[in-house]
Amino acid sequence: MIGIIFGPPGSGKGTQAAKIEDAFHLKHLSTGDILRHEVAEGTPVGKEAARIMAAGDLVPDELIVDIVRRRLPEAEAGAGVLLDGFPRTLRQAQALDRMLADEGHHVEFVVALDVPEDELVERILRRARVEGRSDDTKEAIAERMHEYHKLTQAVLDHYRRQDVRVEKVSGMGTPDDVFERIRRAIGISSP
Ligand code: AP5
Ligand code: MG
Repeated sequence: MIGIIFGPPGSGKGTQAAKIEDAFHLKHLSTGDILRHEVAEGTPVGKEAARIMAAGDLVPDELIVDIVRRRLPEAEAGAGVLLDGFPRTLRQAQALDRMLADEGHHVEFVVALDVPEDELVERILRRARVEGRSDDTKEAIAERMHEYHKLTQAVLDHYRRQDVRVEKVSGMGTPDDVFERIRRAIGISSP
């Protein structure tokens, strides 16, 4: 089972992915979390990504595709994978399709979280006061939203064209409310 949790910055992808991982035993693969780890460890990848991320821009497709290519086989070994923050461009989506096709797999569902922009900004600024993520500044948030509209939204049309199940789910309300909607939308039962 390969699923994608999709949505703009601050829409709750990470929050919901943790719940889905617990309930359905899908392995959560977050490219943002992986990159933040690389930055914290000061690896070559982290050094390349740090400034790009802090500005709210997208890191190069090749770098991200490489990261996913290395981790996917291990993640796929379990009950399934839930991708968070990837794919984020059409080229990433095409690269993912090819990677999965090589193993006889394909994306089975996309859950697209829908949250109005003013709420997104509010959530991220609230988190900034607690966690201090380098890209949770007003300028970087604006750039992240811009990249989302310019490049990432097109990923949804890519999957719709392929008849992949795309479920739009409201991300408003409590995290539990949202999770209940997701559970109903994807309709997979807990193993
Ligand atoms: P990434 O880490 O993917 O960040 P993002 O997409 O900007 O999204 P966030 O992680 O900020 O939000 P989220 O949707 O996970 O929401 P969360 O659950 O945290 O990417 C960061 C950067 O890495 C990119 O800008 C780019 O530079 C690089 N990158 C990553 N992947 C890449 C790729 N594939 N290609 C190129 N570059 C890539 O929730 C947000 C906050 O709201 C939290 O504080 C949470 O507690 C709170 N919250 C959650 N749900 C609710 C709720 N229902 N009500 C109230 N508050 C809530
Ligand atoms: Mg996240």
